[in-house]
Amino acid sequence: MPDSNQTMPTALVTGASRGFGRAIAAALHADGARVVAVARSAGQLSDLHDELGDRLVPVAADAADPVVAGTLVAQYEPDVLVLNAGAAPLPRPLHEHTWETFSRNWDVDVQHAFNWSREALLHPLEPGSVVVALSSGAALRGSPLSGGYSGAKAAIRFLASYAAEESRREGLGIRFLSVLPQLTPATGLGAAGVAAYAARQGIDVTTFLEGFGPALTPEQAGKAVIDLAAGSGHDHDSYLLTAAGLTPVP
Ligand SMILES: NC(=O)c1ccc[n+]([C@@H]2O[C@H](COP(=O)([O-])OP(=O)(O)OC[C@H]3O[C@@H](n4cnc5c(N)ncnc54)[C@H](OP(=O)(O)O)[C@@H]3O)[C@@H](O)[C@H]2O)c1
Repeated sequence: MPDSNQTMPTALVTGASRGFGRAIAAALHADGARVVAVARSAGQLSDLHDELGDRLVPVAADAADPVVAGTLVAQYEPDVLVLNAGAAPLPRPLHEHTWETFSRNWDVDVQHAFNWSREALLHPLEPGSVVVALSSGAALRGSPLSGGYSGAKAAIRFLASYAAEESRREGLGIRFLSVLPQLTPATGLGAAGVAAYAARQGIDVTTFLEGFGPALTPEQAGKAVIDLAAGSGHDHDSYLLTAAGLTPVP
């Protein structure tokens, strides 16, 4: 049964226990939404609840599980659904991967984006709702130390555009977008990637990062999602995200 007493918009963020997802959940909460925060780490979600209060609803669950997606979409009918959960890729060159480590981001990131996008279309979510999926800048140029990561993130970008097309064809009024953040050392996942690429080039992290310009922060990711959810001026299906803001990807 959908919740019937809601008077404020509901947002649901997967992978909300830390990194971008935590900051996106906090930004949506500060913007006035009830926020359903989904991740496997119950302790980190509990900390977030203690920090933000009862308008933050922690749900400890595996976001890649199709039953979790179907159950939570039906229960909360989010106005804003942020598909952020993602596995940290094992930072190794290609031949040091096994198929299991290479395909990890397909099993978690892609499977989760597929399951939740499917449920958003089938339920369907209300007209005017928005689904934002986290892809990566790596989807545009590859990530040779991350196994199948960049291909998985490219698939998420395609998946969001396919869902957007189905929504348009059916007149559902649900917006589907993908965001491609630049690599940043500001999260656990990003810091591991930066350290691996710096070591590969035989330089320290600070020197490696000099080529990147200002680092993207989780708070900037939170603001970007608020801007995309508000909709004004954002009529593309896909956006690159850097510290300078959002840029449409052709
Ligand atoms: N940081 C970067 O440089 C960067 C750049 C481009 C794109 N991205 C993308 O941005 C997203 C967030 O990355 P991040 O840097 O914030 O990573 P992070 O700090 O490692 O956080 C990842 C989040 O995903 C959650 N998660 C992983 N597997 C999950 C599962 N099966 N079910 C539920 N939650 C799961 C984790 O929570 P639990 O472990 O508690 O479940 C955690 O909250 C990812 O999709 C990533 O690929 C990051």
